[in-house]
Amino acid sequence: MSDVLISPSILSADFAELGAEIRRIDEAGADMIHVDVMDGHFVPNLTFGPPIIKKLRPHSNKPFDVHLMIAPVDPYIEAFADAGADILTVHPEAGPHLHRTLQAIRAAGMKPGVALNPGTPADIIDPVIDDIDMILVMSVNPGFGGQSFIESQLRKIEQLRSKVEQTGRAIFLEVDGGVKPDNAQRIISAGANALVAGSAVFKGGPSQYAANIASLRS
Ligand code: DX5
Ligand code: ZN
Repeated sequence: MSDVLISPSILSADFAELGAEIRRIDEAGADMIHVDVMDGHFVPNLTFGPPIIKKLRPHSNKPFDVHLMIAPVDPYIEAFADAGADILTVHPEAGPHLHRTLQAIRAAGMKPGVALNPGTPADIIDPVIDDIDMILVMSVNPGFGGQSFIESQLRKIEQLRSKVEQTGRAIFLEVDGGVKPDNAQRIISAGANALVAGSAVFKGGPSQYAANIASLRS
């Protein structure tokens, strides 16, 4: 048993009953709820936005870990705060003023995070690391669930763990994409302390959610 946090991605849930699905993963042992927001422009897929998140919020007391794959971000920050997002994570490529965006997220009462695509270098985090509470390492190209883990991201996780240690602050180092029971330990050993998993958690239907979450920890 490790103390890694598990953040199931509702991208793999049954969208026709999202409220019930969130209650099920909460009861099955999820530590956070990972919410993938896609705009069909920054990434080639569409999901949902603040009105749906606001309706889902009462279904769990766990933090909502909201991953924005949209551009621009700034016009929607207040709406995500109002919807009940706890952590709001953005990609540096989503706008020209990353530092301003992170400050606006903090000012709106949320924890700011930065997500790094597989092709985005770890060093992009350096100028803003003191302003954030989460680094999200994308271990697939964002847009879809069910893709294979990109092994080269393990080295980046190690680099980012070292940067986090140098701050002395408790910054989440979360990994998202292709996380399965058979690679979770390697990802944690590289330095991650939070794992997003979509297909691995929702596999097999509701009767399996607790076992699926437990198998990512063990
Ligand atoms: C991909 C999303 C992920 C996705 C992970 O763009 O950011 O959160 O749901 O899905 P799996 O765990 O199936 O790779
Ligand atoms: Zn995500």
